[in-house]
Amino acid sequence: MSNNKVVEIQKLLKQFPVGGDFFTALSDINFELEKAEFTGLVGPSGSGKTTLLNIIGGLDSPTKGTINVLGMELGSASHNERAFLRKTKMGFIFQSYNLLPVYTVFENVELPLILNKVESKERKRLVTQAVEWVGLSDKIDSRPAQLSGGECQRTAIARAIVHEPALILADEPTANLDAKNSHQIMNIMVRLNKELNTSFIFATHDEKIMAYLRRIVHLEDGQIVKDEIIENPEMGAI
Ligand SMILES: Nc1ncnc2c1ncn2[C@@H]1O[C@H](COP(=O)(O)OP(=O)(O)O)[C@@H](O)[C@H]1O
Ligand SMILES: [Mg+2]
Repeated sequence: MSNNKVVEIQKLLKQFPVGGDFFTALSDINFELEKAEFTGLVGPSGSGKTTLLNIIGGLDSPTKGTINVLGMELGSASHNERAFLRKTKMGFIFQSYNLLPVYTVFENVELPLILNKVESKERKRLVTQAVEWVGLSDKIDSRPAQLSGGECQRTAIARAIVHEPALILADEPTANLDAKNSHQIMNIMVRLNKELNTSFIFATHDEKIMAYLRRIVHLEDGQIVKDEIIENPEMGAI
């Protein structure tokens, strides 16, 4: 695998046991992602986007096939090795933000650094920087209940980027946001991608996200039906 390959998937099959039978959620998936791509998995609800994203994130495992993420063969890696890869090199953004309500913005964003045993002075520097990136410096001591949906999602982005991951997986990140906030968070992610070369994979069926993607991988019924390069994506206002 070349150094520029962030994800390499071959002949992936994913089946879930249902009753005494199996449901095939993904089949014959072959997919490669290069460094600094800004790519979306796009398809109707139930087409397998989240399942594929979870497998790439090492949160779920394939039934068959091989998957290499950031140089690690996930199939032969142990649970601890996969967890280590996630906490050191990956960031996750979800539709539902997943912030801890009793923690401030600072404390929520700090969590991945605590998991990575970063010392407190360096944590403070990195958290301050990440919060600045998403434009929330003035809310750093607020708690999620005091924030709007857009501000919660920007906090979640700061938490996803604070340890400077190589790959960010974002599952329907704008699903709970209005147009203005959706564009704002897409602008932040475009800027991260450009300035830090962070690789992004989105799962989405939101056209506001699709406008920014540079590559769209279309999923239908668990299969890749089209893989297209977008020539003139929205580059963001920044
Ligand atoms: N744990 C599971 N057990 C059984 N079926 C599942 C499970 N997770 C997902 N599925 C099924 O796999 C298909 C793909 O789901 P998902 O990846 O969540 O789709 P999407 O994110 O594109 O909406 C759906 O039909 C879903 O019901
Ligand atoms: Mg989904």
